[in-house]
Amino acid sequence: MDAPIPRPYSGPADLRRMQDLVSRVWSHAAHWHIGDLAWQRSQHAGREAEWRTALWEDGGAVAAWAWMFGGEELFLVVDPARPELADAALAWSARTADDPARMTVTVLDREAHLIAALDRAGLVRAPDPVHAVYMRRGLADLPEVEVPEGFRVRAVRGVHEAAARAQVHQAAWRPSRVTADSFREVMAAWPYRADLDLVAEAPDGSFAASCLIWFDERTGVGELEPVGTDPRWRRRGLARAVCLAALHALRGAGGTEAVVYPVVGIERAAAAAPLYTSLGFTPYARSLTYTPRPDSGRGGDDR
Ligand SMILES: CC(C)(COP(=O)(O)OP(=O)(O)OC[C@H]1O[C@@H](n2cnc3c(N)ncnc32)[C@H](O)[C@@H]1OP(=O)(O)O)[C@@H](O)C(=O)NCCC(=O)NCCS
Repeated sequence: MDAPIPRPYSGPADLRRMQDLVSRVWSHAAHWHIGDLAWQRSQHAGREAEWRTALWEDGGAVAAWAWMFGGEELFLVVDPARPELADAALAWSARTADDPARMTVTVLDREAHLIAALDRAGLVRAPDPVHAVYMRRGLADLPEVEVPEGFRVRAVRGVHEAAARAQVHQAAWRPSRVTADSFREVMAAWPYRADLDLVAEAPDGSFAASCLIWFDERTGVGELEPVGTDPRWRRRGLARAVCLAALHALRGAGGTEAVVYPVVGIERAAAAAPLYTSLGFTPYARSLTYTPRPDSGRGGDDR
């Protein structure tokens, strides 16, 4: 059989098709949630020129996609029922990377069909002290929200709050490339819902902490991405309060489970995993990084 031919990304309708695949194949063995695509492609709006994205289609639906971020960092989602498309995506990445020998591929440790393809293409696991831990929590037994005195926890009211919303994100994640404009893009992305975007308002009216949940109605699973507290207001229980309020809102919207992926190994996110553990999340998977074998001189199988 001929190798399946990909086509390039051609605009926002394709993003939705890529999300449809992510939702259709979502499980606890999946690296991507629809919220990841919405957040990661919208928060850096304007950087599209740095990205290369290819889609493999089958009967009008996307069956696989590959996204080369920044020329060397590959992400891919492949329908586990079509494992041969993982080979095609890795071959595409070897043709597409700026320098295939320096390419990295990030997958989840439970993505057996992708790991098998990485093995076939001759890529090997790289040391990855920085990686994501995948955590989950059911919503049946949520504690009540306790809001620290003087603060108010509420949902974002609409796009007119994009600048204030971006500001609390920037404070928590400094240095951050998120701007008021890119946050407007986030708010316009499917499936953003302001009622699942919770903030803690400080006594002066500014936002002190925030938690955004992306809800996939098809799976019942909401993803927390991102969460942050302005450094001036940390260790007062504000992240706990906004996250719990967001989890209650998720349950109210029909959600049954929440997932979150704290990154371990970087100083500025060191508090993330302890926060989610304290909220009752438990780990179920982790990300892995693959690279071409040091002596291979290139990445993947360049068929
Ligand atoms: C992680 C973060 C959101 C926590 O915000 P916060 O408002 O200070 O957290 P809270 O005060 O609500 O803490 C709730 C619990 O989380 C845990 N926790 C929070 N910060 C912690 C830290 N620095 N070290 C260890 N545990 C911590 C504790 O169990 C804490 O309860 P306790 O204070 O009663 O011990 C904040 O540190 C932050 O914005 N970090 C940078 C961005 C980030 O990592 N976001 C999460 C990414 S997925």
